[in-house]
Amino acid sequence: MTTQHTDTAAATAAAVAHLRAHDAEHFAQLDEFLRIESVSADPGRNDEVRRAAWWIADELERIGVERATIHETGAHPIVTAEWMHAGDGAPTVLVYCHYDVQPTDPIDEWVRPPFEPRHEDERVYARGAGDDKGQLFMHLKAVEAWMRTAGRLPVNLRFFFEGDEEVGSEPVEQFIAGHADLLRADVCVVSDGDTFDDDGTPAIGYGLRGIAYWEVRVHGPRQDVHSGQYGGGVDNPANVLVRMLASLTDERGRVTVPGFYDAVRDLTDDERAAYAALPFDEATWRDETGVAAAMDGESEHSLLERLSARPTFDINGIWGGYTGEGAKTIIPAWAAAKISTRLVPNQDYREIEQSMKAHLASIAPPTVRVDARIIHGGAPAITPLDHPGIGPASRALEAGFGKAPLFQRSGGSVPVVAALDSRLGLKTLMVGFANPTGNFHAPNEWMSLRNIRDGMVSLVHLWAELGAMRGSDLRGD
Ligand code: BES
Ligand code: MN
Ligand code: MN
Repeated sequence: MTTQHTDTAAATAAAVAHLRAHDAEHFAQLDEFLRIESVSADPGRNDEVRRAAWWIADELERIGVERATIHETGAHPIVTAEWMHAGDGAPTVLVYCHYDVQPTDPIDEWVRPPFEPRHEDERVYARGAGDDKGQLFMHLKAVEAWMRTAGRLPVNLRFFFEGDEEVGSEPVEQFIAGHADLLRADVCVVSDGDTFDDDGTPAIGYGLRGIAYWEVRVHGPRQDVHSGQYGGGVDNPANVLVRMLASLTDERGRVTVPGFYDAVRDLTDDERAAYAALPFDEATWRDETGVAAAMDGESEHSLLERLSARPTFDINGIWGGYTGEGAKTIIPAWAAAKISTRLVPNQDYREIEQSMKAHLASIAPPTVRVDARIIHGGAPAITPLDHPGIGPASRALEAGFGKAPLFQRSGGSVPVVAALDSRLGLKTLMVGFANPTGNFHAPNEWMSLRNIRDGMVSLVHLWAELGAMRGSDLRGD
């Protein structure tokens, strides 16, 4: 071993020891962060979202990270900061996480209120525990561990934390285009996904699905009318809506919108082999999910492939007409639904947005008026598995979790990842620490203390691993 290696190993060990020594303090501070009600979808909580941004910026400055800045956008603030003193040729890494969280309904199903963190069974339960405030917090602590021990970091780090991820990241894509100087790096590290299982098997994510999301409204009579007086003559907008939406998929869930699959890239034999080699148990998945059986999907694809490498269509919500107590016999004036598709490479969400709108217009009967409004979209993303950062990231996760990571594509979407690639040519290593059954977007969201601890240790190692590389070697171009 060269002296430098010995030094780095000793410095890494000291940073890890710092994490262990401050364990209780860290969990208390995590609770403080989780108590901030940063629900981006709720305009009534805008100040809370802002408070979370300030909390992060203050924390970065306290740690010794420089140029912590709150950027105003059309929506919620973006926080950037940097520490750029790792020396000549050292890599620069951009760290991205989001500090906004999903709404908390159905609130009655939470065992404790969502913003009063509960520690139980070696887990912390709170909205944002896994998605994504817990993971953002882990990054702060890993950096702090280096700064408080070595007084420096092995790599240059830039930070990019947003508060609009859960509502589509629209202002953020513009921000990327206009602030290349603040975001320039050799690679991006995103922690906004999950480990492979709840048994401490870490994962490196190499794919995300894209998304396109619409609200559809079908308008019929001027106002609600008596279903006896008018039934048989007035086409019911709710009937029409469900007929239209039902026709958008076939019995295997394949989307019927013309051209929808045109750009879908088939999995290669190697990719299919990688999927098949993952230790995925369908019965366990079914039991954890609480469904009677997996749906009858595309027969030429395994369940795991369908969950992340194939596009989907979903009705996210549907309403209209009478939903109160008892019965009320009406033909409603209108009915509405929120619908979305998950997209895979190389589907273009802008093209899909337009083809869905055109298709809905084409299947609407002349008895109603159909409005389809685009709410948001985001592109799918893939990180090549031969990216030079994959080896260091694997070693770092193995050091933290005591097990080598598996490689998985996620079914979820993080629009920023594709935007960083298309706008800045920046590739992303997805190093996620949340628990796969940790109730993302659902009541009683949680993350295990083990994943928090092992993940923070992994991040300490990740900066050492990447610091041993040259920036130019990490870019992989
Ligand atoms: N962290 C999730 C995405 C995710 C989930 C990645 C599971 C990996 C595993 C993210 O916060 C999210 O929920 N994204 C939204 C994006 C949408 C609002 C544009 C999603 O996927 O629905
Ligand atoms: Mn997230
Ligand atoms: Mn989310």
